[in-house]
Amino acid sequence: MTCNRWHKVDARCMPGTGVRVHCQWQRPQCRAFPSTADPMQQDMAQTPKIRDVLAAASRSLGARNDAEYLLMHVLEVDREWLFAHALETLDPASATRYAAMVARRAEGVPVAYLTGRRGFWSLDLTVTPATLVPRPETELLVELALERLAPDTPLEVADLGTGSGAIALALAHERPHARVLATDRSVEALAVAQANARRLRIGNVRFVSGDWFAPLGRRRFDVIVSNPPYVAEGDPHLARGDPRHEPRQALVAGADGLDAVRVLAVQAGEYLADGGWLLVEHGYDQGAPVRELLHKAGFVDVFTARDLEARERVSGGCKGVK
Ligand SMILES: C[S@@+](CC[C@H](N)C(=O)[O-])C[C@H]1O[C@@H](n2cnc3c(N)ncnc32)[C@H](O)[C@@H]1O
Repeated sequence: MTCNRWHKVDARCMPGTGVRVHCQWQRPQCRAFPSTADPMQQDMAQTPKIRDVLAAASRSLGARNDAEYLLMHVLEVDREWLFAHALETLDPASATRYAAMVARRAEGVPVAYLTGRRGFWSLDLTVTPATLVPRPETELLVELALERLAPDTPLEVADLGTGSGAIALALAHERPHARVLATDRSVEALAVAQANARRLRIGNVRFVSGDWFAPLGRRRFDVIVSNPPYVAEGDPHLARGDPRHEPRQALVAGADGLDAVRVLAVQAGEYLADGGWLLVEHGYDQGAPVRELLHKAGFVDVFTARDLEARERVSGGCKGVK
């Protein structure tokens, strides 16, 4: 007769880690399950080691980073912990949960939707399928905006199409004296952004839903930023990888991908203070048409900045003083 229950051997717990683990989960040394060599060896063969589970998940996903990140999430540990405990075994509940996440990742669900979190700038953001997963290249837009926002000055900033609130919250966090207005047409996305602001205790952002400039009223802004949708309808990238699972209205903007940028370029002047800046993220191959749109709309000092991979990524222009 065997005893099938798993028991936690607390003596081997990592004190203070709060970790629900794993080497310490063993079959009991009970009368029903004597510790003879053979049954135990058999048992260990069925008990996955962290190292082996990670190797199998990395093979199935073709991405070691994703496999590690998901396991860190399931176990609530950091990467160092995973390596330090690689030869320990995974408890059955965590193993099941991990296997389910790996399967969903293999179907293409973004890691951030599986964990519900994404790091952006210095912030740990909640993301859901209602929001775009914030991209590292968007941090360039934050940097360019910060260069135009003097610290300790009560400047007015708007982030149009805020999604999870990534840009607005990063700016508000770095410039606590600024007043930031964050807008989105998606009320579901705005609710996520608002919850992020509350959890991160960032109080100088207001969230309003509506189409591009409609929620701005009569206010004039020193900086208007936007990472609008900029993928062309039918672009093959929409059928590959993470974008398959992201909201279409966060990605697609007309036949050439520039519909949203056109609206932003044409209307921003009305809502900018003299000398104020419009800064817009765009596709790596859209720098020239976006600069042209900004010139046509009357902006001066029009420029394009490149991301870390030297691709044209953010363009901007200044509302000249009349
Ligand atoms: C590319 S996502 C950017 C999200 C976020 N700013 C970021 O960088 O992660 C574009 C956002 O624009 C919003 N959006 C699309 N069309 C809009 C419109 N007409 N008016 C306002 N927001 C819009 C989408 O809902 C989406 O949240």
